[in-house]
Amino acid sequence: MNAKTDPVSDTDPDAFSKIVRSRRSVRRFTGEPIPPEVLQDCLELATLAPNSSNLQPWSFHVVQTPDLKAQLAEACLGQNAARTAPVLIAIVARPQSWKQHAQRVLDEWPEERIPDIVKRYYRKVAPLHYRQGPFGVFGLAKKAVGLVAGLKRPVPRGPYSPAEMKIWATKSTALAAENLMLALRAYGFDSCPMEGFDECRVKKLLELQRSELVVMVLAAGRRGEKGVYNRQHRFTGEDIIRYR
Ligand SMILES: Cc1cc2nc3c(=O)[nH]c(=O)nc-3n(C[C@H](O)[C@H](O)[C@H](O)COP(=O)(O)O)c2cc1C
Repeated sequence: MNAKTDPVSDTDPDAFSKIVRSRRSVRRFTGEPIPPEVLQDCLELATLAPNSSNLQPWSFHVVQTPDLKAQLAEACLGQNAARTAPVLIAIVARPQSWKQHAQRVLDEWPEERIPDIVKRYYRKVAPLHYRQGPFGVFGLAKKAVGLVAGLKRPVPRGPYSPAEMKIWATKSTALAAENLMLALRAYGFDSCPMEGFDECRVKKLLELQRSELVVMVLAAGRRGEKGVYNRQHRFTGEDIIRYR
């Protein structure tokens, strides 16, 4: 059975609501390890997040070895969540992966025949969207063409620079991070997303490339006593949710 004929499986809004509503940022963990098969499934669920052009511009660095974890926790400014979690996961965006991943999508296409439209997309259209060229010159040229063409009709307004490629990769990666947090919650575990870290040190510790971005470091484990600091509060109102 392929994706076109897959039946939509039964879903349970109450179960989903329970997972979403019980997820909190946890800053104290018990230290109980997450079973490897649970962690693996959560990571696989993370990779099912929707992502731009299915180019999956992310990677997940799972740190459990005590030495490296202690160093990473220090790079996370010694935050409680990082120090007490049995596992830290650096969630990394890879803006420059698009080219290699475009080829990989074709190489690993899950059906026998790759539709021509798909081949065209990954060979012709994706490079047009994502290639920025040396010193970003191709991006600048695209921006100029877009500005003129955009006077008459809707056109894509980016990504037009290496900086916009970072945003491009970060959007998809952040969605994967949320999938991961919810998957952990579904298994009864918890997490704390952290952007409070020294990115230079984290990248050095994990031997990441210059172009890669650490979007979040996720502390994960079993919720400890007084692990949640405050009651959850969200803004409501017409300035937040607007029906137009
Ligand atoms: C991108 C991002 C970065 C965050 N960085 C930190 C952090 O460095 N340390 C921390 O304790 N919490 C961090 N948080 C957690 C937020 O403080 C938390 O999500 C927010 O206060 C709402 O609380 P809740 O997650 O329990 O609903 C971060 C959350 C996000 C999404």
